[in-house]
Amino acid sequence: MKKTRNKKEKSLKTDAQVTIVLTSKEIQEFQLLIMDWYSDHAREGLPWRATDRTAYQVLISEVMLQQTQVDRTIPFFRKWIKRFPDFQSLSSAPQRDLLGYWKGLGYNSRALRLKKLAQRVIDEYAGVLPKRYDTLCSLPGIGPYTAGAVRAFAFGEATPIIETNIRRVCIHHFEKELELYDFSDKAILSIVQQLIPEQSNISIADWYWALMDYGSQLPKELGHNPNKKSKSYTRQKKFQGSDRQVRGTILEILLTSPSGGVVYESLFEEVRDQIIKKAPGDPLTRSRFEKIHSDLDMEGFIVNENISGQVHVGLR
Ligand code: ADE
Repeated sequence: MKKTRNKKEKSLKTDAQVTIVLTSKEIQEFQLLIMDWYSDHAREGLPWRATDRTAYQVLISEVMLQQTQVDRTIPFFRKWIKRFPDFQSLSSAPQRDLLGYWKGLGYNSRALRLKKLAQRVIDEYAGVLPKRYDTLCSLPGIGPYTAGAVRAFAFGEATPIIETNIRRVCIHHFEKELELYDFSDKAILSIVQQLIPEQSNISIADWYWALMDYGSQLPKELGHNPNKKSKSYTRQKKFQGSDRQVRGTILEILLTSPSGGVVYESLFEEVRDQIIKKAPGDPLTRSRFEKIHSDLDMEGFIVNENISGQVHVGLR
């Protein structure tokens, strides 16, 4: 008799019908595992976790951490908080100072958006960061993750949040449940929501710190990264030779030049010379420079001034 294979079709469910329900036993055991691990392995010395942290500090740290790793962020965060300790000082800071303090973190538009956010907080909320999720999401540079993280770490409010470490923990521990949903963020969020501790002996801030710390060491422990299963998984793009590197180089030159600015043509040559050293074999073409210059202009980083028939480029 011919053997027929029992084809076990794995039909994926759509996001619209996420129906993962964890039992209270599963939830309790998982919470115990995480908090037990955290009591011995919590990352120490993270300044944004200090007990006297302000909502402003939490916000700054989360925006910095959106695209920069924890260890690299620490010195930038410390210097920033010294120079711009609150919404008031940030809202009135010269853009040149902001970019100077942000330089090295990358994705500089984050610094400009933070200043706009500070101005809104001063003008519309009497200098106090609002707590409501929707209100936070309406502020410049704040997306669902940052809003939820600020609520957790600044206000102790429970909102399901997902970032790279939390995603990794969930994919690893709830692989069977999530497989049916192709490891979508929506399905992961449904699990995160159910895992939030209700008991008063675990604070919301501690819970999420614990999840993040546990998740950050998982790849080393497992020898692989569970996040590769997720559609949201993207490797950091190469920096060398990238538009980001050219943008950073332009801003760096303008930051160190006197406020009068640099003649457009000399700026192009200087940037091209620096890029060829930083990324040999990838010379900067004029048209690429023109596009990046025009992007920086539109995004509000720079100004162009015509002085005796020559365009001078300066920081705004
Ligand atoms: N602690 C607080 N927020 C964090 C984050 N986004 N990543 C790592 N550790 C954190």
